Amino acid sequence: MAFIILGVLGTEGRLCNKTSWGMDGCRLLCCGRGYHTMLRTVQKKCNCRFIWCCKVECDLCEVQQEEHYCN
Ligand SMILES: *[C@@H]1O[C@H](CO)[C@@H](O)[C@H](O)[C@H]1NC(C)=O
Repeated sequence: MAFIILGVLGTEGRLCNKTSWGMDGCRLLCCGRGYHTMLRTVQKKCNCRFIWCCKVECDLCEVQQEEHYCN
């Protein structure tokens, strides 16, 4: 049933999780139509260090993040 509902709504362009076997996984979410992978650059905290005892200071690093979208 869930497959039918998703099929009607269409899953094109939906962000899916490549490693998940659940409903958000690419296999189920894309209904077997496959998916493509895009690299997105996101900023994440990195090189965190303790200042004195109690403060933490981090740099912002750009990392490439893979995102998978249904075809
Ligand atoms: C994708 O699914 C895996 C396994 O369920 C999970 O550990 C991971 O956090 C999920 N990734 C995203 C981006 O939701």
